[in-house]
Amino acid sequence: MNKNIVCIGAGYIGGPTMAVIAKMNPDRKVIVVDINKSRIAAWNSKNYALPIFEPGLVDVVKEVRGKNLFFSTDIKKAVQDCDIIFVGVNTPTKMFGKGAGRASDLQYWEATARNVAKWANGDKIVVEKSTLPVRTAAAMSAILNTHEKYHFEVLSNPEFLAEGTAIKDLLTPDRVLIGGAKTPSGDAAVDELVKVYCGKGGKWVPRERVLTTNVWSAELTKLAANAFLAQRVSSINAIAGLCEATGADVDEVARVIGADRRIGPKFLKAGPGFGGSCFKKDVLNLVYLCETFGLHTAAEYWMGVIKMNDHQQERIVSRLFRAMFNTLANKKIAMFGFAFKADTGDTRETPAGTVARLLNDEHVCLSITDPKAIPNAKKDLEDLLCTPTPPTYTSDPYVAAKDADAILLMTDWSEYPALDWTKLYKSMRKPALVFDTRNCLDADKLRKIGFTVLNIGK
Ligand code: UDX
Ligand code: UDX
Repeated sequence: MNKNIVCIGAGYIGGPTMAVIAKMNPDRKVIVVDINKSRIAAWNSKNYALPIFEPGLVDVVKEVRGKNLFFSTDIKKAVQDCDIIFVGVNTPTKMFGKGAGRASDLQYWEATARNVAKWANGDKIVVEKSTLPVRTAAAMSAILNTHEKYHFEVLSNPEFLAEGTAIKDLLTPDRVLIGGAKTPSGDAAVDELVKVYCGKGGKWVPRERVLTTNVWSAELTKLAANAFLAQRVSSINAIAGLCEATGADVDEVARVIGADRRIGPKFLKAGPGFGGSCFKKDVLNLVYLCETFGLHTAAEYWMGVIKMNDHQQERIVSRLFRAMFNTLANKKIAMFGFAFKADTGDTRETPAGTVARLLNDEHVCLSITDPKAIPNAKKDLEDLLCTPTPPTYTSDPYVAAKDADAILLMTDWSEYPALDWTKLYKSMRKPALVFDTRNCLDADKLRKIGFTVLNIGK
């Protein structure tokens, strides 16, 4: 067995994870492959115009690319070169047939398994990185082990990195989770992967933070961990509505709840609801699993987390509607931030997208600004009809706000509180409104300037 590693799928997970694996394992060759040629070209670009924005990523890629980290579209050759194969292809929510809108679409993932079996030239360890519903490793094992000559050991190694802090999360993870079969060959494969995460000379993840379980536990843990985090966000957003109705302040409530060490302070920030590629998809997967096993009450319980999230975005638009005299038609609204959170250009499942569509239904003239997400925003909203005008896009918040009736802050980019709000105010139509859905601006200061200010949960 050689030490080389290939990862199939050069996305938000595959790219950063392999860059850090290569950095911490200078004695291993790491190859990242993808069917998408332009994505690979971007990873290989001379000026490091990488396909994803992630703080600190460029520095790691500069350090290792061409030394022991390589990007390629030759999947077959890479599979033959490497005995450890990570699979990080996308598994979007299925939009057709059985389980539509809930289950994962596993077609790319199965096609990948079949190709690995077809091209293999020796025994391989196959590591699932994609989030998959429990018991799919068994399916992968079944497909792979139809092979007459070679043995494939399938491990589950879910990724817990969060976008925006991916490099930090990878370098100093709370825990690494490896699920493997409880057999001698399963144990041996787990040991091989533990070595990767401990890094050369044991300089990466401390051994006690590498947790090993059976395959099903590992797969379910990923879904459950994301469902618990999503549930906290929905819980605090449910309290936010009540705060608005009663005069309590959700940030104060959250601070005090979080001071209880049994609860802890994280993931208690009220806002426009959760976005990102994982939370909704993983909770829906959990709902589908519960339904499959006849656990209907549990399915409904988790579905509530999603319903609460959708409701939060509808509530934002209704409150804006009421505050702007019950008509939004032909008014200009500047949306500050489109990414699903700060420090990423990713817009998958972003609450800003849902809100933009609801505003378009009200015939708003929408002007969208974001430091990193404008290219993705344009793609996401390209089908929006021109009522009354198509959305406009700019990376300059001052341009977005000019002649606007309202600023709707959707993403907590650190540059927004630092803007010249007096200048913004002067350039807007009056009465000028700010709806800060992240509670990140100084509301008192804005009121002194002359703005009408709305917050979440206040
Ligand atoms: C994806 C899922 O979105 C996430 O839920 C899962 O946990 C891990 O995989 P991410 O890296 O964010 O995470 O996805 P994405 O950025 O879409 O990257 C997947 C890549 O796989 C794409 O670049 C795609 O071109 C590639 N791919 C897909 C293949 O190389 N082969 C295929 O057959 C299908
Ligand atoms: C998440 C998990 O954190 C990560 O472990 C998993 O592997 C993938 O999914 P990510 O989606 O990148 O990572 O971002 P995260 O920081 O978890 O935020 C998710 C969403 O929740 C964002 O839209 C964020 O704005 C929102 N959020 C988060 C809140 O609204 N309030 C909070 O207190 C925390």
